[in-house]
Parts: sequence; C-alpha cells; structure tokens
Amino acid sequence: MNNSSDPQTGPIEVSVAADETYYWCRCGRSKNQPFCDGSHQGSEFEPLAFTAEKTDKVWLCTCKNTANAPFCDGSHEKHD
Ligand code: FES
Repeated sequence: MNNSSDPQTGPIEVSVAADETYYWCRCGRSKNQPFCDGSHQGSEFEPLAFTAEKTDKVWLCTCKNTANAPFCDGSHEKHD
C-alpha cells in the first residue's frame, strides 16, 4: 500500500463522457487519482476543471509535471 502523498509516476487511462466536467488533481494528494478528492485543502493547490470534448478514453497525468494538463505528455519518463 502506498499511503504517502507522493504522486504516482505513470498516467491513468480513464473514460470520460462528452460535455461532462471533471476535476483533475493537481496536488498529488488525492486517493482517487487522477481526480481530486478534496485532499488539497490546506495546500496551495486547486484542482483543474476540464470538460471532455467527446466521450473517449484519455490518459490523465499523475506525476503532475505535464505541460499539457490534465493529459499525460510523457513528462513522467523524464524522472529518475
Ligand atoms: Fe489534489 Fe484536490 S486532491 S487537487
């Protein structure tokens, strides 16, 4: 079990529905990655709201280093 607040390193594939709004965890503390579960409270972070353009499967970043949030851009592979 990983009970730390360390972000995972790889992206998570999730199904999103067209025109639905999702809240991507930006702080790394959520136990419901890649989505916000409210654990950011008391930190400097706020979740990123995004609306899916279409019903699809997407890869959402969990390392929080992506330059294309909330989507994975491969940045996790640049870490040791
Ligand atoms: Fe991480 Fe809300 S729990 S932004």
